[in-house]
Amino acid sequence: MANNLLLGKRGIIFGALNDKSIAWKVAERAVEEGAKITLSNTPIAVRMGTTNELGEKLNAPIIPADATSVEDLEIVFSKSQELLGGKIDFVLHSIGMSPNVRKNKPYDGLDYKMLNTTLDISAISFHKMLQVAKQQDAIANGGSILALSYIAAQRTFCGYNDMADAKSLLESIARSFGYIYGREKGVRINTISQSPTMTTAGSGVTGMTKLFDFADKMSPLGNASADECADYCIVMFSDLTKKVTMQNLYHDGGYSNVGISEDIIDIYTKNME
Ligand SMILES: NC(=O)c1ccc[n+]([C@@H]2O[C@H](COP(=O)([O-])OP(=O)(O)OC[C@H]3O[C@@H](n4cnc5c(N)ncnc54)[C@H](O)[C@@H]3O)[C@@H](O)[C@H]2O)c1
Repeated sequence: MANNLLLGKRGIIFGALNDKSIAWKVAERAVEEGAKITLSNTPIAVRMGTTNELGEKLNAPIIPADATSVEDLEIVFSKSQELLGGKIDFVLHSIGMSPNVRKNKPYDGLDYKMLNTTLDISAISFHKMLQVAKQQDAIANGGSILALSYIAAQRTFCGYNDMADAKSLLESIARSFGYIYGREKGVRINTISQSPTMTTAGSGVTGMTKLFDFADKMSPLGNASADECADYCIVMFSDLTKKVTMQNLYHDGGYSNVGISEDIIDIYTKNME
């Protein structure tokens, strides 16, 4: 149900690859709530994925960019302001990739060049986005910027590998930049820590099916879906959350505060018998 929560707002959504992507759902919901948006993804993702389909459906221009390239990001922010007709009210960073995970390198056998790439794509790109936006004074006062994180930033999940380090850095950047951008320009910056979700990036995590099922059984409300994550992003982009900044917001059905659940005890007990 649409409530015009983003009526008249302008946004940039990074990371919609296909209709499983969390960014895809956020883009659809943002337009449904009255926003005008641009979409961005890597040139190869735009060529190989279905981002164009989404762009046509939502009447959203696509600006290809490698999020590790400051020059590319400068174009995304300047063109978006030009195409949407003013300063940007909200931005979603929905980007993650680890070559170490892709190549099955264990955490105690990381390739350091690959680690640099993981950190650059999955975390430092967020800093680059924020710095470019601030230098261009591209974000409207009261604007809201979000990145998507995962609880492996706080706790060890063995299959998550160097992405855990990337998520810790991502959340730290939200706090450090959130302080500066909040004081100087009234812009809020937060991360949403989402449940395991069956997307292209999610499926790359070692043992994802079991992790997904475990988290679902641990969470009193069950795992949060990509659609539900989109709803939360919309609230965070709206004027209903004007004083929320520098936070890591768990969107996980309660998972982060559970030690053990009855469902898990039942499974454990059955295995012991
Ligand atoms: N799926 C999950 O279980 C889960 C859980 C918590 C957080 N997240 C986070 O949500 C975000 C979105 O992931 P998703 O699950 O929707 O998967 P996804 O694969 O649909 O999205 C990842 C996106 O990152 C983009 N990307 C990769 N390298 C890039 C680069 N150099 N420049 C610009 N874009 C680049 C990809 O093209 C893709 O669109 C990621 O930050 C991910 O870590 C996912």
